[in-house]
Amino acid sequence: MRATAIAQPNIALIKYWGKRDLKRNLPAVGSISITLRDLYTEMQVELDERLPADKLTVNGAVDQAMLPRLSACLDLVVGSTRPCASIISRCNFPVAAGLASSASAFAAITVAAAHAAGKSLGVAALANLAGRSSGSAARSLYGGFVELENRDSEIAVRSICDSEQWPLTVVIAITETGPKAVGSTEAMEISRRTSPFYASWVERQDDDLESARDAIQRRDFEQLAAVAEHNCLKMHSVMWASRPPVVYWNSVTMRCLQAVRKLQGSGVGVFFTIDAGPQVKAICMPEHEQEVRAALSATEGVKDIMVTGLGNAARLVDVS
Ligand code: DP6
Repeated sequence: MRATAIAQPNIALIKYWGKRDLKRNLPAVGSISITLRDLYTEMQVELDERLPADKLTVNGAVDQAMLPRLSACLDLVVGSTRPCASIISRCNFPVAAGLASSASAFAAITVAAAHAAGKSLGVAALANLAGRSSGSAARSLYGGFVELENRDSEIAVRSICDSEQWPLTVVIAITETGPKAVGSTEAMEISRRTSPFYASWVERQDDDLESARDAIQRRDFEQLAAVAEHNCLKMHSVMWASRPPVVYWNSVTMRCLQAVRKLQGSGVGVFFTIDAGPQVKAICMPEHEQEVRAALSATEGVKDIMVTGLGNAARLVDVS
């Protein structure tokens, strides 16, 4: 059986950093994200008894790097005695560069694999399976504003607000195009084991979740901006204080932050967030898109700009 699914990446405003249970990939903290509209990963999964091994192509080229994690995901979704699979992935943005490519990849492959195996699973079960492969992927099972709840024993995700209800714009400044040096899974473990700030990061997360949830419900941009920037800088402080330190920023990342600060100073409704990579995501009110895009494009060292609105949940596009 063959099935194809599409998922959009999501950007966390209140971040997931650290695991409570490595084996089941349970996050140590809850998180809140926005699902993007114009960036996507499409995954086609074909289960085929005749294949000797799983195979993967990404944008037409054979890819071995991502294959072990995708094969493990198929084992989880289809079962470990499954036939081998041919996986064809298409992605319209740089992978492994801090743009949440694993979120959209694992959300898409989970949906495609479940259908290829003839399993009819609800969104909660699919989110739980996607999250076991990559925590942030669970959030791409929903569109708009999404919360991954802080629970002891399972991954639980829910929608807080649809994309149409609060249509924000995201301007992404690409400051470096190569893959990141340390993957987030490994970096989180370094933080958990060695950062002196890790315990207080975990302890204070519920306060930030509550403030962000409240801001989203009341569409209070300023409150969301303040808590999202605080949470982002706190996560990076945890990483910076780890041993060895985990520093994803470069000098252009910093210049982009200064550009966002300058825009804020002139009354533009915008805030920044940065994930496990050097790219800067500026979230703004749609009416400020041009100013934000112009300011980041003019920032020395910025290689490219991507602009997107908020989008919808992962979905099946074909089954045959
Ligand atoms: C900084 O979901 O990639 O983007 O569960 O180990 O695959 P694994 O981690 P992953 O981590 C995302 C980290 C982050 C913050 C976030 O998206 O919440």
